[in-house]
Amino acid sequence: MTSVLGELGKHAFSDIISMGVSFVFTKLFYPRATLIRRPFHIRQKGNLSFASGFTTGRGCRFEMFEDGAIKLGRNCHIGDNVHFAALRLIEVGDDCLMASKVFISDLSHGSYGVDGCNPDLPPNDRPLVGSPVIIGNNVWIGENVCILQGVTIGSGTVVGANATVSRDLPERCIAVGSPARPIKRFDDVSETWVRCG
Ligand SMILES: CC(C)(COP(=O)(O)OP(=O)(O)OC[C@H]1O[C@@H](n2cnc3c(N)ncnc32)[C@H](O)[C@@H]1OP(=O)(O)O)[C@@H](O)C(=O)NCCC(=O)NCCS
Repeated sequence: MTSVLGELGKHAFSDIISMGVSFVFTKLFYPRATLIRRPFHIRQKGNLSFASGFTTGRGCRFEMFEDGAIKLGRNCHIGDNVHFAALRLIEVGDDCLMASKVFISDLSHGSYGVDGCNPDLPPNDRPLVGSPVIIGNNVWIGENVCILQGVTIGSGTVVGANATVSRDLPERCIAVGSPARPIKRFDDVSETWVRCG
């Protein structure tokens, strides 16, 4: 009890009130989650699944279109204003941490290959196309990161702030930039992070 009060004492009074409201909201509507902070936006609630320990910051938005699904593993913690948009599947493994303003989307308005859309068609009228995004366990995603359709991120990987992930990332690496590229990997022999290349 003392430690809970001590922890609460570190926050502004208005934050304590807002956390209390969010806690009641969580237990009423998402009892298996630890804390979903309000405001919280969701489209097709039935297609969201998460395991125990799920915690979100404020202003998160989970959108699922058609049969699209979002699945989160155990102990996933996500920051403020994180936006998921799923047409097929966005799957996040166990113990993942996301900072704020992360955007993860498995879809696009139209396709842009050889048989791609005509630019005279308004983007909103172009058919949605999608390809799953799969994120492993123990992945840390920095502030402002965008993760685009069809990408797989291996377990234990770190994605640096402001990166755009448009291609797969291997496990146990640190990737930065747009497009994100590994700059370090974890060497299992020396148990240190070593520079790539
Ligand atoms: C990627 C990160 C984890 C640092 O990794 P690191 O291995 O300690 O990075 P280093 O400081 O050794 O930098 C290695 C190189 O990558 C560059 N770099 C580091 N982070 C970068 C980033 N986010 N974007 C672009 N380049 C980056 C460095 O400038 C350096 O470049 P150089 O070799 O040309 O000098 C960190 O920079 C980061 O982005 N953290 C996320 C912070 C965040 O979002 N926190 C929110 C709280 S949950």
